[in-house]
Amino acid sequence: MSTPDKPVDIPTTPQLIWDLPTRVFHWLLAVCVLGAWLTAESERSRMLHLALGYSSGVLVAWRLVWGFVGSRYARFADFVTSPAAVLSYLRAYLPQAWRAGQTQARTHYLGHNPAGGWAVVALLVVVAMADATGWASYQDGSADLWSELHELVGNGIIVLVGLHVAAVIATGLLHRENLVRAMVNGYKRARNGEGIPGAFTLLGLVLGFAMVAFTWQVYSGAFPSLTT
Ligand code: HEM
Repeated sequence: MSTPDKPVDIPTTPQLIWDLPTRVFHWLLAVCVLGAWLTAESERSRMLHLALGYSSGVLVAWRLVWGFVGSRYARFADFVTSPAAVLSYLRAYLPQAWRAGQTQARTHYLGHNPAGGWAVVALLVVVAMADATGWASYQDGSADLWSELHELVGNGIIVLVGLHVAAVIATGLLHRENLVRAMVNGYKRARNGEGIPGAFTLLGLVLGFAMVAFTWQVYSGAFPSLTT
């Protein structure tokens, strides 16, 4: 069953944890979100902003599906835990608990830890909100309100992403583990048999090519109903 509910001891050999579709999704989402934020203010890069925004929406929709049918550590059931589990995980980081030798914060998780799991959900929700408010600002005559909301959510995403990257670095240092490399090559240290049996390589490649093609098509104006 789920790894977060059943923490493992400090593991020893590299095992495949993140399938390729999850890794492709992650880095494409990062490019789309950061790119859309950087191109938000300039009229000249409007088409690129729209293309990256629509692509981030498709990626989030894809991730929702993959969260139910994907490999073990990509499934929501593996990393969306109860609020009590998250609180207990975070409490173990308080100085007092740390001094008292509470070990949960130091427990190694193969997939996302309890706090990280909810951070994933929060990131997906705010990206979806940015897409929805951006889309509404194009459809609605009273665009000002939607534009304001869109900008607010966009800036909120950047704050969350900053926290996300800080948490990734802190957790990596705590466990002396390179989490960024794991999100690139898919491997983490684990006990034999804890890894996933396959990377879904073909599906990951198809996802990557399809998303690049979609972004390019939107950018080139191939879907006027989306961009005018
Ligand atoms: C550019 C700097 C970034 C770095 C270095 C980074 C790194 C990582 C790492 C290492 C993980 C896995 C965490 C774990 O082991 O539990 C992760 C997960 C995740 N990150 Fe990032 N990230 C970055 C930017 C972003 C951005 C811009 C977004 C956009 C919202 C994002 C959204 C996510 C999501 C949704 C996950 C969960 C992946 C999944 O399970 O599908 N990240 N990130």
